[in-house]
Amino acid sequence: MDVNVVDVRHVSRRFGGHVALDDVSFSVAKGEILGVIGRSGAGKSSLLRCLGALDRPDAGQILIEGQDITTLPQAGLVALRRRIGFVFQHFNLLSSRTVAGNISLPLEIAGVPRADRPQRIAELLALVGLSAHGDKWPAQLSGGQKQRVGIARALANDPALLLCDEATSALDPETTTAILDLLAEINRELGLTIILITHEMDVIRRIATHLVVLDQGHIVENAPTLAIMGAATQSAVTEALLSETQPQVPPALRARLVAEPAPDGWAIIRIRLAGEAAWQPMLSLLGQQYGVEATVLQGGTTEIAGQPFADQIVSVTGYCAEIHDFLTQFDPSLKVLGHVPADH
Ligand SMILES: Nc1ncnc2c1ncn2[C@@H]1O[C@H](COP(=O)(O)OP(=O)(O)O)[C@@H](O)[C@H]1O
Ligand SMILES: [Mg+2]
Repeated sequence: MDVNVVDVRHVSRRFGGHVALDDVSFSVAKGEILGVIGRSGAGKSSLLRCLGALDRPDAGQILIEGQDITTLPQAGLVALRRRIGFVFQHFNLLSSRTVAGNISLPLEIAGVPRADRPQRIAELLALVGLSAHGDKWPAQLSGGQKQRVGIARALANDPALLLCDEATSALDPETTTAILDLLAEINRELGLTIILITHEMDVIRRIATHLVVLDQGHIVENAPTLAIMGAATQSAVTEALLSETQPQVPPALRARLVAEPAPDGWAIIRIRLAGEAAWQPMLSLLGQQYGVEATVLQGGTTEIAGQPFADQIVSVTGYCAEIHDFLTQFDPSLKVLGHVPADH
């Protein structure tokens, strides 16, 4: 029987009278990349510390590979922490050690014999694309290279789970993309399970197969990323987090929106299509068959976690029940946002 890599069951964590995590439950299967997103103070770091056995919840259980880590004695925790790799926002490299020396550290702590270390270090350097940099000092590296060292170090002892706390938040957009591509590649090649904590929805869109949205210590969403982003409506918290990466009605038009259809006016609709369905030419077919004008005002087709995803704000002339039915055949998440009366 397959055991989830992570099972979080009814976990709560309080600090004095403040509830940082309140009855949080979710599971992560092997090979998933789970993104955990929430505003500052939502409880993300508290959750990560409990998952990494750096802190204990006040209530609930956390199972890693089926083993309850909340009740483990100290000796068990040492072995368990080797099953978990950590990647930090600020890299946390030792400046007194070379790149190879930093990667060697977890091997030394795990008791890997000196003679076996160089080959393992060379493999890890190759995996993160730093084969030529083993003898450099951290101060000689760019931010992206430092994070590659951080990832190599986290993978040194073949962990079952990689925990990343804002791993790309200190990096520029281009370097962020390169590091996320590296994590996705490691996930594919090693089948490694990853939990990524972030406040950036763009990080989630790029690589997270599953998504948990935290708000004030509660889980407000927990589903495949595509299902959450592809839904016609989301919770207010999710909508707010998504707003920076989702197409919006242009403000000048938003000011003109009314609830009722107007003769000669346009309907403003939002269409989301997830998976291969995203490639269907539904708007051109609509134009051909009904002679109406359908114009994409914002958005387009992108990818989420490697799957096609269309998210568009569209204006359609002559919107009526027949047109609505035609569009819904394509099985989109469709929402009529309002109508714009014609200028007379
Ligand atoms: N060690 C602590 N002592 C007191 N309060 C804490 C501690 N750690 C976190 N908190 C509080 O718990 C809440 C969640 O914090 P945190 O998990 O750091 O959120 P996030 O990482 O999502 O920004 C915040 O209100 C924070 O002030
Ligand atoms: Mg935090």
